[in-house]
Amino acid sequence: MRTQVAIIGGGPSGLLLSQLLHRKGIDTVVLERKTRDYVLGRIRAGILETGFVNLMREAGVADRMDKECFVHDGTVISHGDTQFTIDFKDLTDTSVVVYGQTEVTRDLYDAREAMDGTVIFNAENVQIHGADSDAPHVTYTTDGDEHRIDCDFVAGCDGFHGVSRQTIPLTVRREYEKLYPFGWLGILSETPPVHDELIYSCSSRGFALCSMRNENLSRYYIQCSLSDSPDDWSDDAFWQELKRRIPSEYADKLVTGPSIEKSIAPLRSFVTEPMRWGRLFLCGDAAHIVPPTGAKGLNTAASDIHYLYNGLIQHYLDGDDTGIDTYSEKALARIWKAERFSWWMTNLLHRFPDQSEFDLKMQAADIAFLRDNRAAQTVLAQNYVGLPY
Ligand code: APR
Ligand code: PHB
Repeated sequence: MRTQVAIIGGGPSGLLLSQLLHRKGIDTVVLERKTRDYVLGRIRAGILETGFVNLMREAGVADRMDKECFVHDGTVISHGDTQFTIDFKDLTDTSVVVYGQTEVTRDLYDAREAMDGTVIFNAENVQIHGADSDAPHVTYTTDGDEHRIDCDFVAGCDGFHGVSRQTIPLTVRREYEKLYPFGWLGILSETPPVHDELIYSCSSRGFALCSMRNENLSRYYIQCSLSDSPDDWSDDAFWQELKRRIPSEYADKLVTGPSIEKSIAPLRSFVTEPMRWGRLFLCGDAAHIVPPTGAKGLNTAASDIHYLYNGLIQHYLDGDDTGIDTYSEKALARIWKAERFSWWMTNLLHRFPDQSEFDLKMQAADIAFLRDNRAAQTVLAQNYVGLPY
């Protein structure tokens, strides 16, 4: 088989790139290791920056999002029983969109199908060959049969555990990582959200987040120990602990119910440099991970796709390689800022096992300064709604 861009990974990054390029007449093949249902079974976040929303529009995949999403002009930050709102709209004249990543991915799969795009599921043993040559190719197996795709470029959109990053020699690759000494225990419940905006809560018992998917589907998280497993937490224990960590006015009106999904995610900051090696480009989780506190996971994947998509259409339509030649530099510049913001939000709102009394006072002062200072709130708001591409 021959294509112009072979895309490894059928998550939001790979599908969005494939859809955008197809609309510009550039051929792609997406190789996904799992099935469509398996990919859609993963519960992930759902705060979309304007940049991501605009890319979905350019990809012609915004109809359901526009109909079903929430538009949020702000978010609540609470510390103990004090709380205040960061009013994004007032501070930056920009809002964010709340629309689950699962729905984004579902819409992208439907759009690929509608355009008869090639997405190959259950693609095993994907290997990238000759990425540092002018004629790369990819091999994979399905049902034990070997297949080969010749291509001009390979986009590695296969997440943190994918093959693409591993294809870049260690002599070329530089990795930066920070692991946090706690995780997030998250549940999904068919209950009405406790508030019409997200609540990020820093309590003496640890972090908590109240988020949502729709009028009757809520997503809640509490900071937990990395040695915990979801089975250690009954639904009731979760709800009781969440109530202890959010301001009483919300705890009193919290509607509880059975969890339909419960999982623990470790918190990690990770970046690999460079994000290009010859004809191979890394995008999204394949190149970088952020702790979810800043809601930047999907949005940093989107800015990667923005830079690569524009670089590839410049290459194919204008014969100009400036975009692809500056892809890694441009993408990393924005990613490091998103890493900083996510790291800062994580330090601001979580309890660390080794925090001293002085550290706790610093954290409280940081939050008090944020509460009382418009400039500080503006910095948070600018980062939360998304820095320019
Ligand atoms: N071969 C083919 N497909 C693979 C391989 C492989 N060797 N390894 C992984 N994949 C597939 C996975 O099954 C997954 O569907 O690649 C896809 C990668 O998707 P994501 O992990 O969702 O990564 P990305 O598309 O970059 O989306 C980033 O996901 O984790 C969230 O917070 C993150 O929101 C961000 C978003
Ligand atoms: C979510 O809705 O799952 C969510 C929202 C905001 C975050 C993280 C997760 O910062």
